[in-house]
Amino acid sequence: MTVLVIGATGKTGRSVVEALTARGVKVAAASRTPDTAHHGDAVRPVRFDWADRGTWAPALEGASGLYMVGPYAHPTGETLVGELLAEAPDLRRVALLSVIGADRLPPEVMMADWERDVRASGKEWTILRPNWFIQNFGNAFAAGLRDKGALDLPAGDAALSFVDTRDVAEVAAAALAEDGHTGQTYDVTGPQSLTYAEALKTIGDAAGKDLTYHPISHEQAAENLRAAGVRERAITWQRGLYDLIHEGVNAPVTDVVERATGRPARSLAQYAAENAATWR
Ligand SMILES: NC(=O)c1ccc[n+]([C@@H]2O[C@H](COP(=O)([O-])OP(=O)(O)OC[C@H]3O[C@@H](n4cnc5c(N)ncnc54)[C@H](OP(=O)(O)O)[C@@H]3O)[C@@H](O)[C@H]2O)c1
Repeated sequence: MTVLVIGATGKTGRSVVEALTARGVKVAAASRTPDTAHHGDAVRPVRFDWADRGTWAPALEGASGLYMVGPYAHPTGETLVGELLAEAPDLRRVALLSVIGADRLPPEVMMADWERDVRASGKEWTILRPNWFIQNFGNAFAAGLRDKGALDLPAGDAALSFVDTRDVAEVAAAALAEDGHTGQTYDVTGPQSLTYAEALKTIGDAAGKDLTYHPISHEQAAENLRAAGVRERAITWQRGLYDLIHEGVNAPVTDVVERATGRPARSLAQYAAENAATWR
């Protein structure tokens, strides 16, 4: 089996490449700039761009499996997942990266469209709906935590079962390489539910510094995003995600990682210990 990994240079895709190659599965790693992507000798880099249909068929050549990060930054990306699958007759199995609560999010998020088209594709599909990534603390939130020791978010005191992207990737690899996951929509979560204040305490303890969570209003969050040049569409998207958090959708803990991989999900404390220098 060869699996095409779309999003292979990103947070989940990079780990999907590692998880599949560890299982001995052949991987074609997609990127808009495959020449600059470094995955090791066992992986074939291929050029793929959602915005350039001429790249689709050559990237899919020889692939019977697909891990897919959808065209989330594409302004008219709603139909692209279905269109790609319609152009992939030899593809047998698909794992789609979605998000927890996808069916309750505003249409700007597009994931409900992608999920519908994957389910209707006639392929052996698995949909992964992860919670917010633990890795956000070491990526998107890292500079603020390092420089100001603070994180401002409109999440109130709601709890989330943050998930490690390596676990999301290992569930995806199991879904693609093993039988028994077809037709499943998995809420993929970490092992415990934490408020942002509790999460920052965990990270601060590992980094040896005080980190403070400031709950802010939706309006303040939108203003901050506008000031940073974020487009209205993405601001609406963010608002939808935070509304779900307030409704408690992100709080439950599932056993999906343990069932799919045979071991417990990684904790935020483990990630914080591994990456303590990031926040110093
Ligand atoms: N952050 C969270 O907490 C969270 C939680 C749940 C779900 N999600 C969802 O996860 C998705 C992002 O996944 P990720 O974090 O694994 O990825 P990521 O780290 O955001 O990386 C984006 C990937 O997409 C590729 N890409 C960007 N534009 C592309 C295009 N036009 N054509 C082809 N590939 C393109 C990039 O590849 P190149 O640049 O190499 O081309 C890169 O590999 C989003 O849909 C988000 O909603 C995020």
